[in-house]
Amino acid sequence: MTHFLSLADFTPKELRQILDLAINLKDEWKAGGNEPLLRNKVLAMVFQKPSLRTRVSFDMAMRHLGGDALFLSPSEIGLGKRESIADVSKVLSGFVDAIMARVFSHAHILELAKHANVPVINGLSDFNHPCQAMADALTMLEHHGDLSGLNMTYVGDGNNVAVSLMHLSAQLGINFTISSPEGYQIPEEVVIKARALRKNGAATLELNSDPHQAVQGANIIYTDTWTSMGQEQENQKRMEVFPPYQINSLLVSEAESDVIVMHCLPAHRGFEITDEVADGSHSVIFQQAENRMHAQKAILVHLLNKSH
Ligand code: CP
Ligand code: NVA
Repeated sequence: MTHFLSLADFTPKELRQILDLAINLKDEWKAGGNEPLLRNKVLAMVFQKPSLRTRVSFDMAMRHLGGDALFLSPSEIGLGKRESIADVSKVLSGFVDAIMARVFSHAHILELAKHANVPVINGLSDFNHPCQAMADALTMLEHHGDLSGLNMTYVGDGNNVAVSLMHLSAQLGINFTISSPEGYQIPEEVVIKARALRKNGAATLELNSDPHQAVQGANIIYTDTWTSMGQEQENQKRMEVFPPYQINSLLVSEAESDVIVMHCLPAHRGFEITDEVADGSHSVIFQQAENRMHAQKAILVHLLNKSH
């Protein structure tokens, strides 16, 4: 059973195959519509947290491919509360062809996958966000043509989005620099894993707490919220620590002239990113959001349509 839980679980070749498929499915969709590769397949979408992009993009991806999606809200199934995660997983496996889940604890997505007889897709956990990074890779390819050798600088919280971007970079040869304040760095074990994933040490991986130094030479600047879902009680403290890590026009001007500015959204305008940058000529944030749908079509087809 193949699940989609972390970009560290795949080979670079598999990730490139999924990205190639995403490009083809996007072209096909733009040319008039997709072949019904997932006809009669149903995806259960389990959410412990809110979502706009993940929910709608997975739902539309399934519909475009001839299948269907079922939304299960946080209050409906009470994952691990009303019923054990193992039982939910076994029950859903009898009804649907795949499960996508957005959870608080990463252990919960691992537990779902452990007991499922159908593929499980990680739609964000407190540890990582692999579907987001695949959509971002598609966006980077569209703008820069090739991933290998690009310089990406992530500025802000060393969170779930940063983890998947670090995995992506190590796997596909992107030079990755991350600039986070003291106490909010990406977990050390992720850095160790990413260093191990790098093929022949081709891509560089740097930690640099000075965002102005970190964006030197960047072709991609990436940021995300300073307070992720589930960390709301830390919000006040984070608002004091993170302002030097804001993506504003000055910071963007210090990067390469071809730099693209990325944000997984939802954005907190005026905090981690200014309006001027979010709506400016370097920003690709809405293309990223649209690419969630195209990248996830490829993930779904890769998992559910082995003959493809
Ligand atoms: N980027 C992202 O995952 O957005 P949602 O939280 O709206 O799904
Ligand atoms: N880091 C953010 C990403 C939202 C898509 C969060 O977990 O809330």
